[in-house]
Amino acid sequence: MAERKGIILAGGKGSRLHPITLGISKQLLPVYDKPMIYYPTSVLMLSGIRDIAIITTPEDKEQFVRTMGDGSQWGVSFTYIQQPSPDGLAQAYILAEEFLDGAPSAMVLGDNIFFGHGLPTQLKAADARKTGGTIFGYRVADPERYGVIGFDREGMVTSIIEKPEIPPSQYAVTGLYYLDASAPDRARSIEKSARGELEITSLLETYLKDGVLSVEQLGRGFAWLDTGTHASLLDAGNFVRTLSERQGQLVGSPDEVAYHQGWISPEELMSRATRFGKSEYGRYLQRLLLP
Ligand code: G1P
Repeated sequence: MAERKGIILAGGKGSRLHPITLGISKQLLPVYDKPMIYYPTSVLMLSGIRDIAIITTPEDKEQFVRTMGDGSQWGVSFTYIQQPSPDGLAQAYILAEEFLDGAPSAMVLGDNIFFGHGLPTQLKAADARKTGGTIFGYRVADPERYGVIGFDREGMVTSIIEKPEIPPSQYAVTGLYYLDASAPDRARSIEKSARGELEITSLLETYLKDGVLSVEQLGRGFAWLDTGTHASLLDAGNFVRTLSERQGQLVGSPDEVAYHQGWISPEELMSRATRFGKSEYGRYLQRLLLP
C-alpha cells in the first residue's frame, strides 16, 4: 500500500486576526521564535511523513515558498497547491487528489500547535490504521468554537458537529486528520454547509456512518494551542517561550526533528545553524551538535 502523505492546510484570509493578516498569511506569523507553520510541519515529520503538500491561497504562495523552500533543508519534499477560494477544509482533499495519488494522508491545519510527551506514539497508532480515519479529541473550555465530538453512554462516538450552539461534549476535534485513500472521493460526495463550505466535519461524518472513524484522545498533559485570536496567539507564543527557556529545548522545530530522524546530516544541520547564527534559534541548533 502507498505510504501516507502529508497535507498542511494554510489557506484562509485570517480575518479574525485583522489587521495583522492584511499583509501576511496567518500561518507565517511568529509564534515566539519561529513561523507558525513550523509547528504543524514538525508534527507530520515526527510521524515519519516526508512527502508533504502545502495548500495556500494564490496570493500567499510566494511567501510560503520563501519561508519553507522545497523541503530539502529538512530531507522532505514540499509540493505547493493553490486553493483559489476558501471553500472549506474538506476541499483540501479534492485539491490534493493528484498529489495523494491513491495514498492515505495525514492533514494538519497550518495554525494548530500540538505539544506533549507521547505524541509520536499516538501518531504511530493512527498511522497503523490503514483503512478508515483517525481524529484526535481534546477537552476544551469553549467547545462551541470548534468541531465537537458527541458520545453515547458507552463512550462510542455518535456525532461530529461543527461549531454547535449547544455542544454535546467538551471534546473538540483538533486540526489533525489521518484519513485513508477514500478521502478525496468522500469529499466530493458531501454537500456544502449553510455557510457554503465543504466542512471537514461533514467528511468525518461519512467515516463515522461507515463505522470506520477512530478517536484518539489527547490527555490533559497535552497542549493543543489556539492561535485564532490576538490573545490566544500571544498566549501560544508565551507558552512556547516558557517551555523552551525553562528546558533549553526548542518546541516544534522541523530542523531538530529532521536531524533526529536522520534525514539530514550533522553538516547539513550545521549549515542551517550557521545561517541563523545571529538568532537564538540558530544558536540552539549549534548546541544540538555538541556531544
Ligand atoms: C476548523 C474546523 C473545526 C476544528 C478546528 C480546529 O475550524 O472546522 O472542526 O475543530 O478547525 O482548529 P476553524 O478554526 O477553521 O474555524
